Amino acid sequence: MKHTKVRDLLNSTTTLQEVNAKGWVRTFRNNQFIALNDGSTINNIQCVVDFENTPEETLKRITTGAAVSVIGTLVESKGAGQKYEIQVSKLEILGDSDAEKFPMQPKKHSLEFLRENAHLRVRTNAFGAIMRVRSVLSYAVHSYFQQKGFVYVNTPIITGADAEGAGEMFQVTSLPLDNLPKNEEGNIDFKKDFFGKHTNLTVSGQLEGETFAMALGQIYTFGPTFRAENSNTSRHLAEFWMIEPEVAFNDLDDNMDLAEDFIQYVIKYALDNCKDDLAFLEGRLLEEEKSKPQAERSEMALLEKLNFVLENNFKRVSYTEAIDILRDSTPNKKKKFQYLITEWGADLQSEHERYLVEKHFKCPVILYDYPANIKAFYMRLNDNTEPGRETVRAMDILFPGIGEIVGGSEREERYDVLVQKMEALGIDKEELYWYLDTRRFGSATHAGFGLGFERLVLFVTGMTNIRDVIPFPRTPGSAEF
Ligand code: 4AD
Ligand code: MG
Repeated sequence: MKHTKVRDLLNSTTTLQEVNAKGWVRTFRNNQFIALNDGSTINNIQCVVDFENTPEETLKRITTGAAVSVIGTLVESKGAGQKYEIQVSKLEILGDSDAEKFPMQPKKHSLEFLRENAHLRVRTNAFGAIMRVRSVLSYAVHSYFQQKGFVYVNTPIITGADAEGAGEMFQVTSLPLDNLPKNEEGNIDFKKDFFGKHTNLTVSGQLEGETFAMALGQIYTFGPTFRAENSNTSRHLAEFWMIEPEVAFNDLDDNMDLAEDFIQYVIKYALDNCKDDLAFLEGRLLEEEKSKPQAERSEMALLEKLNFVLENNFKRVSYTEAIDILRDSTPNKKKKFQYLITEWGADLQSEHERYLVEKHFKCPVILYDYPANIKAFYMRLNDNTEPGRETVRAMDILFPGIGEIVGGSEREERYDVLVQKMEALGIDKEELYWYLDTRRFGSATHAGFGLGFERLVLFVTGMTNIRDVIPFPRTPGSAEF
């Protein structure tokens, strides 16, 4: 007999048929009621065991965490809380789970404890829900771009290029670290390395993505990216997934429209397709917030917050306007910010971003036209900026509770201007000759952005630590599993 997924059993339109379900025991009550979960849904199916006719030996083995197979009749449940249950006629223990030793007890565990048990935390309600929502969101990403005719590009993971020019890269080598070959100058001889050059893990697929956009028109990447920045925060991972669309002939306004439409689409998709999981996560968040002081609790419940983002346009604000708002803000005047805003040109810290989004505008914000010297080399220089106050066609999207969720720009399409910029910043033109070729042969206005997938999953699930929305987080000092 083939087994049926619990989700399909619970959605069944007929009863009284014989069914087979397989899953893991969540709880076993009164020697009679198994709450069985197989991961297909947050909901368990109740399996009613005929304990009088089941050997004591078997009953003892129905413990939290055990894998079981039950055969029985699907009937309407008399008990509260579930529509259907299985009246078990045959029960088989597939894999025992020592109740004394199984770490995922049916009780509340701290998120820290669960992180240390990332291989088992996915058996809890919360992590099952988060990982299903994450999966649905990835599908929505592809669905959005594919429907619009974007081409999915797999940019390389090992590369010689530092796209962001920030130098926060993991190096890739097959050289023996205890016996590095040296060249005549006494430096490490990377010519002897696997690729015959110095390589690293990619921080972004953008530069390669641009070359494809300049041929295929509209492309997107969706893959892992790596940053060796020593940021031990609830928003940073050393390995995270990024979605990077790049579109030929788009300018900054088109780029903002695309980002906003895309984010709204994927959130709507999750709302429509993850109802049970999101309802559970909303309850989880309410529970978590009860332990916080009133002032720190969110004003909106999870679903309300997600709907708010769908129904309201993102507020578009220039960097210059934002600086004026921040300079005059109460936390700046009362010296409550850690980094006080005194002048134009200051880099915005997450405290400033969150003030703008959460306190001032109270909605998602797109900040644009940043000072050139705090942004990456490839961003397009604005035409009419004052000397000393040069700005670039950059945009960051800021979300409540998250801060920066998207970073993007219109690209510098003018060969000469780009070369000048690279020279000024000491970026190797030889190394990036292929990138410059896009500007030498058929250059055109184009724009794109990067969305940090985990930050999106954080927002949609209402979780607060990025380590809890990726299966096996990599952070400074931690690469378990
Ligand atoms: O702002 P970033 O660094 O932009 C780029 O990498 C561009 N090349 C994107 C582009 O224009 N194609 O990163 C983009 C987004 C951020 O807004 C943030 O959401 C996420 O990637 N991100 C991180 N997420 C988790 N952990 C980290 N350490 C992250 N660094 C960036
Ligand atoms: Mg950024």
